Amino acid sequence: MAVLILFLLISLTYILTIHACPKCGSMDVPYPLSTNNNCGNRNYSVYCNNGTLEFLSAAGFYYQILSINPSAYKLIIRPPAIQKSTCQSSDLALGGLRLDENSPFNISSHNTVMLLNCSETILLSPLNCSSNSLCRQFEEKVEGGSSCRDALCCTYLKDASMTSHRIRVRVGGCTAYTSVVYLKPGDSIDSWHYGIELQWLPPN
Ligand SMILES: *[C@@H]1O[C@H](CO)[C@@H](O)[C@H](O)[C@H]1NC(C)=O
Ligand SMILES: *[C@@H]1O[C@H](CO)[C@@H](O)[C@H](O)[C@H]1NC(C)=O
Ligand SMILES: *[C@@H]1O[C@H](CO)[C@@H](O)[C@H](O)[C@H]1NC(C)=O
Ligand SMILES: *[C@@H]1O[C@H](CO)[C@@H](O)[C@H](O)[C@H]1NC(C)=O
Ligand SMILES: *[C@@H]1O[C@H](CO)[C@@H](O)[C@H](O)[C@H]1NC(C)=O
Repeated sequence: MAVLILFLLISLTYILTIHACPKCGSMDVPYPLSTNNNCGNRNYSVYCNNGTLEFLSAAGFYYQILSINPSAYKLIIRPPAIQKSTCQSSDLALGGLRLDENSPFNISSHNTVMLLNCSETILLSPLNCSSNSLCRQFEEKVEGGSSCRDALCCTYLKDASMTSHRIRVRVGGCTAYTSVVYLKPGDSIDSWHYGIELQWLPPN
C-alpha cells in the first residue's frame, strides 16, 4: 500500500513538474500547454516570445495569453489592437481570429464580441446593432475604439449556436472587433475585462 501511494505521488510529481513547461516571463505554463518538445503536450502548443506567452491562430497571428485556468481548461487571450487612425484590427489582413477545426481549442461562450465599422449587410444577421448597443459605449469611451465611431457596430454574445472557431473581420464587412469576457448586464464599462476566452478539450 505504502509503495503504491509512493508510486502515485511520484507519478503525480512527474506529471506536474516534469511535464509542465518552464515559466514564460512571469507566467506559469501549466500542463498540457507546451512551449517546446520537452514539456507539455504538443497538441497544445503555445509560444514564449521574449518572455510573453502567446497563442498562434490557424491564420498565423500571435495573440498574447493574459491568463490561464488549467483546472477549467480555459485561457484568455488579448483581443488584437485596433489601429488608432483606421479602425482596423491588427489581424484584419488574416480575416480575424480563426482556430483550426481539428485543434483541441475553441472559443468559449463567455465572450461578448463587438464588431466595429461594419457594412450595412451585417444588419441581416441576428446581432444587436442598435444605437444603444454596447459597442457604442466602447467607441465613445475607450481610446482604442474612437477611430471606429460614426460607422455601424454590433454586439453579440458568442454562444453555442455560433461557430466556435472564428471571429471574422474583413474589408467590406466589419473591419475591427474587440471582446469582453464574463460581461454581466449592468456592468459599467470601467469594469469590463477585455479578452477572448478559449477552452480546450483535455488530453485523454
Ligand atoms: C495529438 O492529436 C492527435 C490527433 O487528434 C492524436 O492522434 C495524438 O495522439 C495526440 N498526441 C498526443 C501526445 O496527445
Ligand atoms: C524583449 O523584452 C524586453 C523587456 O520586456 C524589451 O525591452 C525588448 O525590447 C524585447 N525585445 C524584442 C526583440 O522584442
Ligand atoms: C441591444 O443592446 C442594448 C444594450 O445592452 C439593449 O438595451 C437593447 O435592448 C438591445 N437591443 C436589442 C434589439 O436586443
Ligand atoms: C471602415 O471600413 C471600410 C471598408 O469596409 C474602410 O474603407 C473604411 O476606411 C473604414 N473606416 C475607418 C474609419 O477606418
Ligand atoms: C468546444 O470545446 C469544448 C471543450 O473542449 C467542448 O465541450 C465543446 O463541445 C466545443 N464546442 C464546439 C461548438 O465545438
